[in-house]
Amino acid sequence: MASLTSGLSGSVERCGIGFENVSVAYGGQVVLDSLSLAIKPGEIVALIGPSGSGKTTALRAVAGFVRPSAGRITIGDRDVTRLAPHARNIGMVVQNYALFPHMRVEENVAFGLHARGASAEVIREMVPECLRMVGMAAYAKRYPRELSGGQQQRVAIARALAIRPQVLLLDEPLSALDAQIRRAMLDELAKLHRSLPNLTVLYVTHDQSEALTLANHIGIMRDGKLVAFGDAQSLYRHPPNRFAAEFLGSANLLPVQSLAAIDGDAARVHFCGKPLLARNHHGLPEGSDCLLCVRPHNLRLQAGTDADNALSGTVVSVQWQGDVRNMVLEIEGHRLRMACPPHGEAPAAGSVLKLHFNPADVTLVPEGSAHG
Ligand SMILES: Nc1ncnc2c1ncn2[C@@H]1O[C@H](COP(=O)(O)OP(=O)(O)O)[C@@H](O)[C@H]1O
Ligand SMILES: [Mg+2]
Repeated sequence: MASLTSGLSGSVERCGIGFENVSVAYGGQVVLDSLSLAIKPGEIVALIGPSGSGKTTALRAVAGFVRPSAGRITIGDRDVTRLAPHARNIGMVVQNYALFPHMRVEENVAFGLHARGASAEVIREMVPECLRMVGMAAYAKRYPRELSGGQQQRVAIARALAIRPQVLLLDEPLSALDAQIRRAMLDELAKLHRSLPNLTVLYVTHDQSEALTLANHIGIMRDGKLVAFGDAQSLYRHPPNRFAAEFLGSANLLPVQSLAAIDGDAARVHFCGKPLLARNHHGLPEGSDCLLCVRPHNLRLQAGTDADNALSGTVVSVQWQGDVRNMVLEIEGHRLRMACPPHGEAPAAGSVLKLHFNPADVTLVPEGSAHG
């Protein structure tokens, strides 16, 4: 406990989190399937995926609340697979606050310190510091029922930080909050991490925008498997499979044929017989059929006629959303979504538009499921 006297931002050993072929089964049903993932010390990694994909299970395995049926979990160079939860030096925040209702804010924050036998002096120092860190210093004497949802969640974060964890696990911490508060809390979480740069954070969410805003690296889960992992930008710009393309952001995926390499990662493919240029970031083999992934905002309206990567599409629907106009267009029997600035008159349904995309903005994705 001696190290606690150096305050919240004092030195804590930087520790990454390692999953090595970790599987978890409930009653014989595998819900986490051989997860391998290395989270670097001081990084924020987001695990995203639909409900039931195994995100919470992965987090609970790190916390020690579920025992893997196979594999190893490490924190720093410690193998914690068989270690009791309280011995793992982890802070955890879940979706529904879970503050102790009969305790004041300051007692909630002090709870983990008491449980670890911290001295009164340490508690006097740490509790206000943690509350300050989350902007809740003025609320120390309140009970949870006297706080808004966002405030309760700040206290839950302060409580998790009080024990000076090496690792902070967040399980959908913002999903019970309304959109505006969620955005403000995201900014604050980013700020918090800047003031505690040694803290390694594993952030579970089904909300891709939270992941993109906050995380250095993102892992995408599906049916208990990690189907994609990478830095947020490259995962968004060059998704490795259909599932990743559609889960992280919105994507148009056009079936294209007979890939031909041109130069570096530039490639030519054919869409309904028409040549299109794209980037082959994933090194798909020559001659193969694949999917061309183009994000709705990378489709542009084009005044001119015959340039590279020009397509013509029939307007199916137009929806105005303030600073963006969303359109659905039909091209050779395929529906594409397009998002553009709402300049001028909205095109009428049935009108034909010329579209264009920059080859550097589109990537080729293998066909088939992410499991294949
Ligand atoms: N305690 C449990 N007992 C049995 N099945 C569970 C238990 N917890 C989770 N599961 C199942 O494991 C799968 C993964 O759940 P979970 O990790 O909570 O997914 P996520 O957090 O991605 O929504 C789901 O099919 C869920 O029903
Ligand atoms: Mg969950």
